[in-house]
Amino acid sequence: MNLTALYNISYGIYIVSSKKEDRINGQIANTVFQTTSEPTTIAVCINKKNLTHEFITESKVFAVSVLEQETDMKFIGRFGFKSGRDEDKFKGVNYKIGVTGSPIIMENTVAYMEAEVVMEMDAGTHTLFVGKVVEAENIKKAIPLTYDYYHQVNRGVSPKNAPTYIPKEEKSAK
Ligand SMILES: Cc1cc2nc3c(=O)[nH]c(=O)nc-3n(C[C@H](O)[C@H](O)[C@H](O)COP(=O)(O)O)c2cc1C
Repeated sequence: MNLTALYNISYGIYIVSSKKEDRINGQIANTVFQTTSEPTTIAVCINKKNLTHEFITESKVFAVSVLEQETDMKFIGRFGFKSGRDEDKFKGVNYKIGVTGSPIIMENTVAYMEAEVVMEMDAGTHTLFVGKVVEAENIKKAIPLTYDYYHQVNRGVSPKNAPTYIPKEEKSAK
């Protein structure tokens, strides 16, 4: 089995955010997709260890900000390699609070959607949250960042908490 075959699955790069009482948090995720059109629902796959997981589980709401291709690696590093448990990731970031109370990133963002959780599937290390879209808006005309561009052009990597993480020793054929 050659797990690098899975690298050929296409994704975008997003910030999935949520709230808990008066606190907000968000993280990078590539696992975002539309599940149905009637009603409009989207799914996100979030690691149980992440603070964002705790916030979505409690508030039952989340937002997805679609990042643009030009998003710099420092910005991705802040939301994708650091936890809201250690620092306020939104400090100095341009954002607004949406109708669900979740923060929406207003910089580097092409579009956003907000959702209310209607289903949770336990996927072991992660939970697949399916949410009914209650708000959606385009913000900026720009090319959305893809997972492939992030890897090939930005030379970005995926941390352990990403569902697509493949340990080095498992990358080659067994
Ligand atoms: C390119 C990239 C893709 C990622 N995709 C996911 C994902 O789909 N799901 C997930 O749970 N974590 C994913 N992560 C990891 C989280 O962003 C990371 O664990 C983050 O620090 C969690 O922050 P939090 O504890 O503040 O919620 C990804 C990270 C990167 C850099």
